[in-house]
Amino acid sequence: MLFASVSSSVSPSVSSSVCVRDALSFARERIGPVDARALLQHVTGFGHARFASAPERQLDPRAWQDFEALVVRRAAGEPVAYLIGWREFYGRRFSVTPDVLIPRPETELLVDLVLRERDRAQRLQILDLGTGSGVLAITMALELPRADVTATDVSPAALAVARGNADALGARVHFIESDWWSALADRRFDLIVSNPPYIAPADPHLGQGDLRFEPRGALVGRGRAGAGDLAEIVRSARANLRPFGSLLVEHGWDQGAAVRASLSAAGFDAVTTTKDLGGNDRATSGISNPEAAPAPRPADPRV
Ligand SMILES: C[S@@+](CC[C@H](N)C(=O)[O-])C[C@H]1O[C@@H](n2cnc3c(N)ncnc32)[C@H](O)[C@@H]1O
Repeated sequence: MLFASVSSSVSPSVSSSVCVRDALSFARERIGPVDARALLQHVTGFGHARFASAPERQLDPRAWQDFEALVVRRAAGEPVAYLIGWREFYGRRFSVTPDVLIPRPETELLVDLVLRERDRAQRLQILDLGTGSGVLAITMALELPRADVTATDVSPAALAVARGNADALGARVHFIESDWWSALADRRFDLIVSNPPYIAPADPHLGQGDLRFEPRGALVGRGRAGAGDLAEIVRSARANLRPFGSLLVEHGWDQGAAVRASLSAAGFDAVTTTKDLGGNDRATSGISNPEAAPAPRPADPRV
């Protein structure tokens, strides 16, 4: 028999079978409805339409057990993306593990900005600094098939995830383990993109939501304000850019003015900040002026 009703007072795990409707009502007492459907889809392979059209459909006992365990973990705060093992970015599915940042929708803005300026026929040398799961590098490699894309990360575990994603999606990307510029020597690129860690170490958001489970090295930037990695990237980028090459970085909603100032000071022209869909400053770009003097080295490059 199915559960007549699955309530928090009854442990569904004692039953050998449960239907879609009862599984979802068990989950909805503990987590949000969107998360509940994503987890149920993950364990059953049923599409969302099936949940509505066949609510009496039985889950096999193994699927039910797995679902119950995932609901409990989600209720304890673990991100859905880590529980199901993937997140969509620019219309493609990327594997994610707790070794990498969960790709954010606002980061898709960087791809939009690149594609607005560049076309598929161009032969370009592109660099993605701090690639994480590889979303930016892989998406650019697939959207700009003639580009030669290099991606770096300081984390070997992140690079393993990114390599797996490139293989799964059929993208040709050259991955290098590197602490920002250290392994790049004098390689020159037409375009450098980066979404570096930029959150301040004392930011209270680090103790909330998904951020509690993501790698600290992917979130927290160096220096008291968290802007030290951005500063390091901007300051040194021109040495690895071809004349009139572009730098495009993602940053925090309150970092736009500082990033614009550091790009201008480092010898970039046409410095522009673009807002995300939420209306917040999110990405700043500039074009390397080959006539400009080398960027001055700040007293403390980490702040
Ligand atoms: C905010 S995550 C961005 C990941 C991915 N690009 C994305 O947009 O989802 C920043 C990435 O930078 C990497 N990172 C942090 N410090 C680094 C460093 N010193 N050199 C290279 N990569 C670094 C982290 O490991 C992490 O993967």
